[in-house]
Amino acid sequence: MRQTPDDTKTNDWAEFLDLASLPPYARVFFLLLLRRSADAVMLVAELNIADHLAERPRTASELAELTGCHPESLRRILLTAAALGIFAEQPDGRFILTEEAEYLRSDAEISLRNLAVFFGEISALSPFDELRQTLRTGVDPFRRKYGKMVYEVIADHPELAKTFNRAMTQTARMSAESIANFGGFARFTTVADIGGGRGQLIGEIVRRHPNLRGILFDLPHVTKDAPDLLASLGVSDRVTVMSGNFWNGLPTGADAYLFHRVLGGGDEHQITKTLKQIHTEIGNQPHARLLIAEPILPPPNRFHPNRLYDIEIMLNIGGRLRTEADWKKLLTAAGLELVSTLETDPMVTMLEARPATAVELPAQPAAT
Ligand SMILES: C[S@@+](CC[C@H](N)C(=O)[O-])C[C@H]1O[C@@H](n2cnc3c(N)ncnc32)[C@H](O)[C@@H]1O
Repeated sequence: MRQTPDDTKTNDWAEFLDLASLPPYARVFFLLLLRRSADAVMLVAELNIADHLAERPRTASELAELTGCHPESLRRILLTAAALGIFAEQPDGRFILTEEAEYLRSDAEISLRNLAVFFGEISALSPFDELRQTLRTGVDPFRRKYGKMVYEVIADHPELAKTFNRAMTQTARMSAESIANFGGFARFTTVADIGGGRGQLIGEIVRRHPNLRGILFDLPHVTKDAPDLLASLGVSDRVTVMSGNFWNGLPTGADAYLFHRVLGGGDEHQITKTLKQIHTEIGNQPHARLLIAEPILPPPNRFHPNRLYDIEIMLNIGGRLRTEADWKKLLTAAGLELVSTLETDPMVTMLEARPATAVELPAQPAAT
């Protein structure tokens, strides 16, 4: 139930973020406080406040009773969230959902609820102090603390793994529409979605392209839940589920290899090796493609949320984001070249690459 009565103004924080009018010291102070905005969003997500408000407007005291919280402390968090455009307090003291808050409902089509909970939980495994260590050593916090990559650490924590996999399935939908409608899929026979989670994205792609087959490849603890999701999308018969560690080898036989928000977890050496394998695999098929969909870094001195996301990835995945030029370099090192780019959501760009020696093909009609 979303209501925005006239006297409940939301989103003035977005106007406030035109910080130019503040004195410079105040801008710095503001930046220091900004971390508390993430805390507020993570806490209300964890407490399922949006689900409770979807039933009906409620006061902070009612919500405190439902969630086992201290009423006045919860109200301060709720008012902070409301100041940031998430929830709005009505004159009668009851909170309601806003447009943004809808995305924190656990049952929303595109939901960031599990992502917010995951951010909170993973930072308990990789606290701020780890960032200090990473700064000094360059060593990925998970390798340093646990001696393994983050995805293996996640696999060791079944509840966290459940939250993470749900978060990935739900956030894959942010890009699914634009990626699945990418006209280029019409020319492929088999698309392999590497690190494709439980199959939300490959499922959507194959569903929209009836002649296409898919391969879903991810770690075993992730793919074990894929068959149910693929069945719910009606594509079980056209998607083959395979498991393994893609840094050690890739499935063969595809004429398109898709990596959606995956390669940021690798270093230059690992990525080059993987891209070379793809070159070898698709090398003699001129229509074949490598599709890398990643958050791309802005140029130096320019603000974009991906600049902050890069630190999240450094601390919580042990990886990094790259500029388009960085990706071009990696592609070139593997004998590949960039053909086109497509912004699939405001934070992710899909890079289409092919072997540098490939012959140009006539344009294909877009998929319907
Ligand atoms: C950030 S998630 C993205 C998932 C999905 N592509 C999406 O966009 O929703 C990264 C995925 O890559 C998988 N992954 C990471 N490293 C992997 C590896 N070495 N081998 C196989 N899968 C891996 C993870 O299990 C996870 O599902």
